[in-house]
Amino acid sequence: MTVIDLNERAGEFNADPYPMYAKLRAAGPAHLVRAPGTGDEVWLVVGHEEARAALADPRLGKDWRPLAEEGYVELPASANMLEADPPHHTRLRKLVAGEFTPRRIEALRPRVQEITDGLLDAMLAAPGRTADLVDALAFPLPMTVISELIGVPDLDRDAFRVLSNQAVAPPSGDDGAAAVTEIGEYLAGLIEAKRSASPADDLLSALIRTRDEGGDQLSHAELIGMAFLLLVAGHETTVNLISNGVRALLTHPDQLAALRADFDGLIDGAVEEMLRYEGPVETATYRFAREEVVIGDARIPAGAPVLVSLASAGRDASRHTDPDRFDIRRAPQSHLAFGHGIHFCLGAPLARMEGRIAVRTLLERAPDLQLDAGEGALEWLPGLLIRGVRHLPVRW
Ligand code: HEM
Repeated sequence: MTVIDLNERAGEFNADPYPMYAKLRAAGPAHLVRAPGTGDEVWLVVGHEEARAALADPRLGKDWRPLAEEGYVELPASANMLEADPPHHTRLRKLVAGEFTPRRIEALRPRVQEITDGLLDAMLAAPGRTADLVDALAFPLPMTVISELIGVPDLDRDAFRVLSNQAVAPPSGDDGAAAVTEIGEYLAGLIEAKRSASPADDLLSALIRTRDEGGDQLSHAELIGMAFLLLVAGHETTVNLISNGVRALLTHPDQLAALRADFDGLIDGAVEEMLRYEGPVETATYRFAREEVVIGDARIPAGAPVLVSLASAGRDASRHTDPDRFDIRRAPQSHLAFGHGIHFCLGAPLARMEGRIAVRTLLERAPDLQLDAGEGALEWLPGLLIRGVRHLPVRW
């Protein structure tokens, strides 16, 4: 199969991948591509139905270890559920699933509102009535919430942000691995400190104490892996739900006006539409064919890496009518922005709540909010995993 080179015009693809996704979908549901940024060859699934099936297909595994070169070194941060298949995945997920039920998350609502209010107090007091929405709200809100939940309230957030950004959107493979190593070392120290401190009422302390049904405990590496995944997944994504979502609203004044006129009725649907139209996760994380898998005309050989484009699935006309239109009043139609199958996002209820509170409170408190930069001035995060801008200048 010929390789489609997405690296050739990586900048253009990053700024607006949707025209290319449309071309790819028209040609078939899966293709062998050269990934933008890394230049690696990978199979990319672009059709909605095929994407949904691929995400739940046990032949497409997440555990890369059986395919790794002999003598490979595993970083402790990799001992997490998103890099595991059943039964290991089942065990790891079960140990934290109880903390992320809609009921448990609902109990965090007053605190999420309070953090949002505090951040907006600071932002709106800025001289000159301008701010970077990412720095002022979209990043610190989810970061503060997840740090408090896990029990690392004193985390050096700016330093963590640099490392975490490098881990999910690395300028090179080496930078990514170095960042993951450094975060792992930091978390190892933190876990040691928690072990010796008096028992605290936070998630990491609970995970240190917890035992599963067999009396089994999380190993040291599994604790690091869990904390790493929750911290990174907990904010690298929601930041872009808020910034991509606000950007979509500010560039579609009719939709913004409709939402302003009926927050109670429309905010939930608006956040779902933000997830479909320009969700934070462009492609799901790597999967590996355990055997040959055929998708459309693509014959994916055993061992090959596969990426499922959630961004492309969200714009597939066979699933969503007039998919390139941003319409917060669409009839509910489930999307794949949180994935599908056993790895469906554990944090979806939390992300939805944060997104709804952040967008609504921002718009209520800044009735004349506008973008303060042209499209060309936006810097998109590199790579295929995360879809978002580094900064979103706004004024009011
Ligand atoms: C808008 C924000 C978010 C989006 C769009 C999102 C999206 C996703 C997606 C697409 C997956 C599946 C990846 C795959 O199958 O390769 C996933 C998994 C996951 N997400 Fe999220 N996520 C968000 C927020 C969060 C938050 C706030 C947390 C935690 C507090 C979180 C924790 C996780 C975890 C632990 C997994 C792995 C689940 C598993 O392997 O069973 N996510 N997320």
